[in-house]
Parts: sequence; structure tokens; C-alpha cells
Amino acid sequence: MSEIQPPVVRPRRLRTTAAMRELVAETTLRPRQLVLPLFVREGLTEPQPITSMPGVVQHSRESLLKAVTEAAEAGIKGVMLFGVPETKDAVGSGALDPGGILNVAIREVAAEVGDAVVVMGDLCLDEFTDHGHCGVLAADGRVDNDATLAAYADMAIAQAEAGVDLVGPSGMMDGQVAVIRAALDAVGHTDTGILAYGAKYASAFFGPFREAVDSSLEGDRRTYQQDPRNALEGVREAVMDVEQGADMVMVKPALAYLDVLRQVRDAVDVPVAAYNVSGEYAMVEAAAAHGWIDRDAAILETLTAIRRAGADVILTYWATEAAGLLR
Ligand code: PBG
Repeated sequence: MSEIQPPVVRPRRLRTTAAMRELVAETTLRPRQLVLPLFVREGLTEPQPITSMPGVVQHSRESLLKAVTEAAEAGIKGVMLFGVPETKDAVGSGALDPGGILNVAIREVAAEVGDAVVVMGDLCLDEFTDHGHCGVLAADGRVDNDATLAAYADMAIAQAEAGVDLVGPSGMMDGQVAVIRAALDAVGHTDTGILAYGAKYASAFFGPFREAVDSSLEGDRRTYQQDPRNALEGVREAVMDVEQGADMVMVKPALAYLDVLRQVRDAVDVPVAAYNVSGEYAMVEAAAAHGWIDRDAAILETLTAIRRAGADVILTYWATEAAGLLR
């Protein structure tokens, strides 16, 4: 053995015991920082499994209330609701209808757990349109930005009337936050907030979500969702959303965009959320089902990494379960 000069600086001292590691840990992960996304499908009497998201279901109205109650009891502070209507049409009428599945669910969830959790609604047309796009189409088949904004304004009002705390515009139309803010204010819903999907990428990791909402989309969303090669653009859009009145902004997906998440966190002064999306969930679940990965450890490491990168709030399908692991 050759003579070596022993190190004077020994970072391992701070890792010697569990207590020491607890004392110096930089990142917290608490149930209160988690939001549970939930799907509710019109006409169901029993919850229906989503094949590509093992453990996640399309809820009936009844099972939805059970799930939000469990989430609230676990200490989760938010739920994000997605509605799957029985019938879809070209303009997504079901999204605007006060009797539509999403608005009905918002009303029921707000009545059940509205004091304990923040109730959020996805504000987008894709679950309600027969073509599966996030907006209405122009004659040439392209998504018509400004016609879509009019629909978003009405959808925001419908959700606010139903009792939502935060609307979550996820369609990436230009100017959507300003239009929604003005529409809500004009009818007196000044306390209804906006969680804007500031940086949302055209991502393969949304794959399983399309099954979750029975999406009929053909083609892709690249004319409105962002190009995965662009980080500056993501920051710019998040900043624009804050300027337009967003109360919180989101980066989505999370794992492949942790750099964007960090940059957005540094660029804005409102809470930043990150969405640990369906494909990220499916990858861990699939690997764990094969015994290739320690599932619980992978879940906590994933959520911790998203917090470390800058998320104040994380939307994750593991929210209720992770809260249990964190007890
Ligand atoms: C749009 C919306 C999508 C997701 C959340 N909101 C789908 C899309 O943009 O294609 C994806 C969420 C996930 O993959 O978990 N309403």
C-alpha cells in the first residue's frame, strides 16, 4: 500500500448517523405539499381501473368522495379534478355546463372536504372534445386560440360557481390567464385563484393520461404545448403567466424538466407547482411490478428530487400513499 495523505475535510462526518443526516437535510417533503389528481367519469357506478396506471382509477361520483376524504385524512392539502364526460362534442360543451361531470364533482368535493383541502379543477377542453384537442378548431383544423379563450372564460366561471378554489388552465393558449382572471373578476369571483400551467411541454410522458380520460386525440399538441428542447421559453411563459395574474405557476412534466423547474422557481415570486405526470408514475409502477426497483424508495426519492429542484407543491398520483410513507 502506498503512503497517502489523509483528508482533513471529511464531508462523511455529516452522514455518520441517522440523527446527523436528519439535522442537516436540506429538503423537506411533507404531506401538506402534495396534491392528488383524480379522475371522475360520468355514469360509473363502480370505479374503473386504468390499465396503464396500476392503482389509479376512473372514479364514480361516490368513490371520488371516498378518495378525497382519505386524502384529506392523510394530510394532503389539495386535489386536482379531471372530468370524463359520457358524450363529447366538437366544442367541449360538457366543460361549460353547470351539470357537466367536472362541475358536479367540484360541487360535491367542495361540500365534502372543501374546508380541509384546496379544490382545483383542470381547465381545459381536451377531456370534453370529440377530437381530443385542448381547444376548439378553426375551419382549417388548427386549434383556434382566441375562440378557445372564450370557452375557457366560461369554463372558469362554471367552476367558480361550483365552488372551486383554484382553476388550473392547462391548455397552453396564449393569453389564457389574463382572460380567465378578467372573466372571474367581472362576475365577482375575485377570490377564485389561478394555478397556471406555465411551462407545459408536448411530452410522451402524458401517454397513460390519455387512457385515463378516454382521449380521442389523433396527432399531437405541438402547436400549443412547448418544445422539449426549450428551457428559456418555459421560463418566459411562466413569467408571463404571473404578469397576467396567475397566483401559482406549474411546470409539467416534472422529472424530465427539473432544470426548467429550478429556473422557474428562481424567476418568479409566487408558489411553483410541478406535476409528476402519468408516464412518470407508470414507469416506476412497471419497474416495481417486475421487482426491478424498490417501489417505496423510488416514490420518495422522486418526490424529494422534485422538491429539491424547486417545487413548492407537487401534483402526484402517489399523494395519499406518500403521505402515509412520510408519517
Ligand atoms: C390537459 C392535461 C393533460 C394532463 C394534465 N392536463 C394531458 C395533455 O396535455 O395531453 C396530463 C397529466 C398526466 O399525464 O398525468 N387537460
